[in-house]
Amino acid sequence: MTLEHSYTEAVESVIFDADQIAEAVERLAERIAADYRGQPLLLVAVLKGALYFAADLSRALARRVDGPSEVIVAYLTVSSYGNAHRSSGEVRLLKDTSTAVTGRQVLLVEDVVDNGLTLQYLRGRLLDRGPASLRTCVLLDKPYRRFADVPLEYVGMVAPDDFIVGYGLDYQERFRNLPYLARLCPGVFLERKG
Ligand code: PRP
Repeated sequence: MTLEHSYTEAVESVIFDADQIAEAVERLAERIAADYRGQPLLLVAVLKGALYFAADLSRALARRVDGPSEVIVAYLTVSSYGNAHRSSGEVRLLKDTSTAVTGRQVLLVEDVVDNGLTLQYLRGRLLDRGPASLRTCVLLDKPYRRFADVPLEYVGMVAPDDFIVGYGLDYQERFRNLPYLARLCPGVFLERKG
């Protein structure tokens, strides 16, 4: 595969290409559409990482005539990694959603679950508001260092135990806009950022 983009020298290898991601999104949309058929659904996307996934998933749901009666997309912003390589274990809610959750069918949309603390924290915050139901949809499951036993109703793909960037996932805020999921060259982690 030819890597034609500005980050070519930083990418070691592609883990899931754009077609594989699109297929995973379609599979998830098919299941979610069937489960919420005829009902309104609130997607709560966890920024920044789930930006691209939520955009694609919500549009995949819109293309299904037999799916939810309507889909509303809300956002909140958390951070646990900061600029670090691994999660700090401390989840911070940087910006809450202003969309009402009470009484709604809610689907949390995450790009990746690793130790699970982010989802555990967010599920607690949302359950306090009394949704009619709360499920989680995650594109990538990294089950290797799970601390928190969180229910994952919809999982797109199981990721290898690597630091992964692209399709919303970053390293020090870079690489989110790669159209695929990739491993970085080790040298990238040695660069000093001012
Ligand atoms: C990443 C990812 C998840 C979280 C998962 O967010 O988007 O929200 O980590 O990790 P965990 O299961 O170990 O808690 P990050 O803090 O990097 O912020 P970002 O979404 O802005 O990249």
